[in-house]
Amino acid sequence: MKKVRIGVMGAYRGTSMINYCEQASNAQVVAICDKWVEGLERQKAALNDPNITYYTDFEDFILHDMDAVVLANYATEHAPFAIKALKAGKHVFSEVLPVQTLQEAVELIETVESTGLIYAYGENYCYMPAPYEMRRLYRAGKIGEFEYGECEYIHNCESIWPSITYGEEDHWRNNMFSTFYCTHSLGPLIHITGLRPVSVIGMEGTKVERKRRTGSKSGSFGIEMVTLENGGIIKSIHGGLYKNSVWYAVYGSYGRMESGREDAGSGVDRIYVNADAYSGEYVHHDVIAYKPAEKNAEESAAFGHGGSDYYSMYNFVQKILGDASADTIDVYEALDMSLPGLFAYRSILAGGVSMAIPNLHNKEEREKWRGDTACTDPKVAGDALLPTFSLGTPEIDPRVYDRMYALWRKDFESDKGYTQMAMTQGGKKE
Ligand SMILES: NC(=O)c1ccc[n+]([C@@H]2O[C@H](COP(=O)([O-])OP(=O)(O)OC[C@H]3O[C@@H](n4cnc5c(N)ncnc54)[C@H](O)[C@@H]3O)[C@@H](O)[C@H]2O)c1
Repeated sequence: MKKVRIGVMGAYRGTSMINYCEQASNAQVVAICDKWVEGLERQKAALNDPNITYYTDFEDFILHDMDAVVLANYATEHAPFAIKALKAGKHVFSEVLPVQTLQEAVELIETVESTGLIYAYGENYCYMPAPYEMRRLYRAGKIGEFEYGECEYIHNCESIWPSITYGEEDHWRNNMFSTFYCTHSLGPLIHITGLRPVSVIGMEGTKVERKRRTGSKSGSFGIEMVTLENGGIIKSIHGGLYKNSVWYAVYGSYGRMESGREDAGSGVDRIYVNADAYSGEYVHHDVIAYKPAEKNAEESAAFGHGGSDYYSMYNFVQKILGDASADTIDVYEALDMSLPGLFAYRSILAGGVSMAIPNLHNKEEREKWRGDTACTDPKVAGDALLPTFSLGTPEIDPRVYDRMYALWRKDFESDKGYTQMAMTQGGKKE
């Protein structure tokens, strides 16, 4: 089988995509880029593969002879590198999030359109067993038309904050706003229904003590109340509450389905379905609970995030190889998942009013947003810099970052640090 030649940017979370290529029959990693020399050296030693070339500079890396690029660099910096990679003739797999401004959104869409190359958004949570089965059932009409849904990605990252921010005050995780990282919750519901969001109301958690003691400057969690094009409503919540939860629920006009709840001994590998209008497969009014069958269960079993890390890459590579049925998330859908988070924060800053979400599929709607740089990143925002928190960007004692740095070094220099890196970034579990 022809192998797609892939370059990976970002040697941390990128570990998961490197692992995919190492075991896949349809892909091989040929280049890895990271400006963090120590991390790059660790990858080199761990992989011990003479067919891989290592780079510290993206401008050199992008000249490497390869078909596609995986962007696992900073979550706020994917769009500029995606645009450069597409213009250099490479297909792109982008980690979350796709853009940090509306200006980037317009430029990214137009670059995908003008190059005609494949852009796949790596929202792996869409491919977790339960939400993926919900998509199949929804598309088969098993619960009727979407009316209401809820989605949660609660991740209390306090214990791993040192190892994912390295004591860097300007790390994107410390400076993102509460509703930015919204696609692990909202993404699967967009992928299930295929419906476009048209407006959003945002809210954020203001009990921020747990955040501040790690150096994070945002609200503690974000909420998007999203209205879809058919009038259906989604409540999406994500961020750092007390205990982790990944959960999805969808109500249709004649049925409901949801994933398992961890405290009930279940999770995203299990689905519960109630429906009235089934013919044959399900019993009237009884809840049906099962573990959905997966297409490549054996291959995906060792991968992180419920095996979903495998499927996002598998579909990307298959798409490049010409498999039209490969289920990738294109640039329009990526923005349908992520723009609600950007506009939810504008809603929060405006006191909770509803914000219309532009339909950037339409060329005429792009003009208004072409120069919009509003975000919390001073390097990008210019005079449109947003506060990181609705009550104002907080001042953090520099000693907090010194403590985070010391904790990170201690972990990184031990075996625990390396294992934790692979695990928290969804690398392959050995
Ligand atoms: N989908 C998931 O489940 C999941 C899980 C973890 C992380 N992520 C995403 O993966 C991405 C990376 O996150 P992370 O946790 O690895 O941490 P990170 O963002 O701190 O690491 C990014 C890596 O990219 C490198 N990098 C950044 N800019 C660079 C540049 N200009 N040139 C060369 N190298 C550069 C950094 O040195 C670092 O090693 C983020 O977008 C994050 O949202 C996704």
